[in-house]
Amino acid sequence: MIKVGVIGAGGKMGSAVMAAVESAPDLELTALIDPIVDSLAPGRDLVRAESLSELNDGDADVLVDFSTPDAVNGHLLEGIERGFHMVVGTTGLRDDVLDNVRVAAGKGGNVVIAANFALGAVLLMGFAQHAAKYFDGVEIIELHHDKKLDAPSGTALATARHISQGRSEVDKGALHDATSKISLDGARGARTEDGITIHSVRLPGLVAHEEVIFGNPGETLTLRHDSYDRSSFMPGVLLAIRSVETRPGLTVGLEHLISD
Ligand SMILES: NC(=O)c1ccc[n+]([C@@H]2O[C@H](COP(=O)([O-])OP(=O)(O)OC[C@H]3O[C@@H](n4cnc5c(N)ncnc54)[C@H](O)[C@@H]3O)[C@@H](O)[C@H]2O)c1
Repeated sequence: MIKVGVIGAGGKMGSAVMAAVESAPDLELTALIDPIVDSLAPGRDLVRAESLSELNDGDADVLVDFSTPDAVNGHLLEGIERGFHMVVGTTGLRDDVLDNVRVAAGKGGNVVIAANFALGAVLLMGFAQHAAKYFDGVEIIELHHDKKLDAPSGTALATARHISQGRSEVDKGALHDATSKISLDGARGARTEDGITIHSVRLPGLVAHEEVIFGNPGETLTLRHDSYDRSSFMPGVLLAIRSVETRPGLTVGLEHLISD
């Protein structure tokens, strides 16, 4: 049995992870970590901690983090150092933290980070990387619920990296934008350092959605993925929990677990 602790257990993703872990015969939900932990799973015999520092080392083998962009950076470094294997879905990770995690991971615990645990989103990134070789223009539109704290989404940033990789493989060069007059700030979205435009939409009713539109003279190709429900992320999260112990160091992206 793999003992699993959930960081951010009181959140939308955290509660879905708790239910998914409890329904898996080879996993045991042992610990909940969240500042609001007292109100969670009343009457259940589980370790409860308001912060990671309150958790004892033997309370879990794997910690799954779906907390906040501010909190996750500290969790990662502390968790690895204390020997917990970490599965991280929280988005908004800082690049400098990722660099430190790359060095630290494996010395203590291993780490799997995925900006998106939904199979369809992972496939979309792969398709986008392939399509990027054949189209002159591309823009990303990501759409999420209105409680999301970070923008653009981690999935959109990861998708942009895949597109850049595809374009660089065939020397596509710089993306072209003829806009010379912007009468409203942000009208053309945000640009990654490789010049890929990302537009972020936030609305009640949405869950997690992404569209990548490729353009060539006379044609467009649209790739779209929709997570209608948080259950879409759970098979990927469970796969990461089961895999992290045997993947030394840092793994970024669910695609590495699926293709192995
Ligand atoms: N990788 C993926 O597939 C995927 C999918 C959906 C959401 N996400 C990301 O997961 C994160 C959580 O999303 P959500 O919708 O569940 O958010 P949420 O606001 O519903 O839940 C966040 C939870 O974290 C808790 N929290 C805050 N600070 C904490 C701390 N220091 N320690 C422990 N817990 C703390 C909060 O009390 C809350 O219960 C976001 O970053 C979101 O972008 C990732």
